[in-house]
Amino acid sequence: MTADTATDPPVLRISGLSHTYTGQRRRTTVLKQIDYSFERGVFYTVLGASGSGKTTLLSLASGLDVPTAGSIAFDGVDLRTIGLGRYRNKHAATIFQQYNLLTYMTAVQNVTTAMEITGVRGRHRKARAMDLLARVGLDRSQATSNVMRLSGGQQQRVAIARALACDVDILFADEPTGNLDEDTARGVIDIFRELAHEQNKCVVVVTHSQQLAARSDRTLTLRRGKVTAVSNRD
Ligand SMILES: Nc1ncnc2c1ncn2[C@@H]1O[C@H](COP(=O)(O)OP(=O)(O)O)[C@@H](O)[C@H]1O
Ligand SMILES: [Mg+2]
Repeated sequence: MTADTATDPPVLRISGLSHTYTGQRRRTTVLKQIDYSFERGVFYTVLGASGSGKTTLLSLASGLDVPTAGSIAFDGVDLRTIGLGRYRNKHAATIFQQYNLLTYMTAVQNVTTAMEITGVRGRHRKARAMDLLARVGLDRSQATSNVMRLSGGQQQRVAIARALACDVDILFADEPTGNLDEDTARGVIDIFRELAHEQNKCVVVVTHSQQLAARSDRTLTLRRGKVTAVSNRD
């Protein structure tokens, strides 16, 4: 990348991305030669039928898995050069379908632990964590409960607060509103919009919900391993 490049590189550039799972009996090619660039300040949704490769795309883009072919670059640098661990720590946060919470901790401890691991500084970590939990609709007593005592929807909110706590450039989420009631889901979407539009983050959300997609800036549709449509609302 030369210094006199006219425009910044996209925050995430996906080039010629293909992915094949190799089982004992057969190989399944899930993604085929995908090219796409994600930008800062934009809230994206990814739609597609079940099995269309949405979770696979998210796990490659979030540095949890390595593609069979092609490359992914963050700010113009290949993820393998940055190091997947470092990329996940410093630049990308992911809200998983199965929340991956630390089950022996309280909600607020899950959030502050993530802050410690990713190097979020400051003496007020706990207050900030409580604040984030309140923003996703958990009260003080829920925030200080062991996460195993919370419902699925409440655990999902802890996972969202934990991802928000890490000050990263890209936020990925896999069906983040699947277990939430309508009001809470709307509040979570408001947070995603605000992160993109006011904090200049790149937010990428996999969903089945047309309603959620309608509130994002750009929607990608995955079909047969390809991005078959992109609709722009921004
Ligand atoms: N670890 C895996 N091993 C083998 N096949 C997999 C694996 N993960 C996903 N698949 C297959 O890849 C396809 C896409 O899966 P996935 O990315 O989870 O789709 P989506 O999230 O859109 O439902 C499916 O056919 C699925 O069975
Ligand atoms: Mg999935």
